[in-house]
Amino acid sequence: MGYNTWYHFRTSITESAVVRQAELLVSSGLAAAGYNCVNLDDGWMAAQRAANGELTGDAAKFPRGMPWLADQVHALGLRFGLYTAIGARTCQSLPGSWGHYDQDARTFASWDVDFVKVDDCGGMPPGTSVAALTEHFRQFGACLRQHNPDVVYSQELPIHQIGKPSFRSSVRASAEIAHMWRVAHDESPLSHDYASAMILGHLAAVRDLHSFAGPGHWNDLDMVAPAYPESGWTLADLRNQLSVWAMEASPLLISADIGALPPDALAALKNPHMIAIDQSGEQCSTVVMNGPVEALMKLDPEGGIAVLFVNLGVGTVTGRFSLPQLGITAARASGHDVWTGETTTFSEVSVTLEEEQTVLLQVKSTG
Ligand code: GAL
Repeated sequence: MGYNTWYHFRTSITESAVVRQAELLVSSGLAAAGYNCVNLDDGWMAAQRAANGELTGDAAKFPRGMPWLADQVHALGLRFGLYTAIGARTCQSLPGSWGHYDQDARTFASWDVDFVKVDDCGGMPPGTSVAALTEHFRQFGACLRQHNPDVVYSQELPIHQIGKPSFRSSVRASAEIAHMWRVAHDESPLSHDYASAMILGHLAAVRDLHSFAGPGHWNDLDMVAPAYPESGWTLADLRNQLSVWAMEASPLLISADIGALPPDALAALKNPHMIAIDQSGEQCSTVVMNGPVEALMKLDPEGGIAVLFVNLGVGTVTGRFSLPQLGITAARASGHDVWTGETTTFSEVSVTLEEEQTVLLQVKSTG
């Protein structure tokens, strides 16, 4: 859990902006809720490496340098992350790590970087096979760990294999070498009109990947609250996203201007039940359908099971589920709505959902 600069700042990041976001993470209570890593995405590095070949920060944006910034973030009790690419160029055509894996891993370790995201943007020799690319990601991960055994390694190997036969094997390889790996495209275009389709589309896309997720290694659906609220997403869109991410146990990296988050969005991001479900240690694997209403389930660390009901149909529909269908053997159960805070009891679940609406319930036997 943490923060990423990308969707709000793109490449316009500066040291003062990063320090401000880190301070806001603490003062807003987000850090105490678990969002405790500040990651700089693309755009932090100078257009050229230093004379000795080392990656170096853009001096106009980061006049006091990356080690100074890492110190500021650490002094706030937060961890510090940086971005690079597996090939010669990042997605913004800045220097990537190709040919410098060991050197960059050493540089990051010497700057006390706790989290490294390695993108897959090209800049590789023409004709590089997926197997060779996988090997490069493996090597870079080994270098990062050699110089900092505690580093968190986030990477995007599977992203260009989406829809191809090599997708699943690239996820399997990623699970062996990294802590998190992107299994979904960037969230684009960012607007309310596309939000539901993008968010709910992940449910089918990553369902068969649950076996690769577990403590210390996660399928990454991308950042949460991307550029919220200037993206045009509504609070319902944000809650939908957090519900899906929680059921899929995806990392929660906020990518917005923390200072511009309205109180209801902040409360959603800090919702302790959503966070507990997300951080439960497993991705959901059980799905039951009733007409167009889907119920996804997993064990809830707060007791009972977490169930996400989703209307995948057209218009308003009602889904009915017996308690045994939800894995409950008792005659009655209670359901706590993670977002409204209401608790109801029932002997079967009947949920009426508007088109593309979701409801996240914590269901427990009551006897
Ligand atoms: C994309 C990546 C995004 C962001 C961007 C930066 O490839 O998926 O998360 O890092 O590059 O240029």
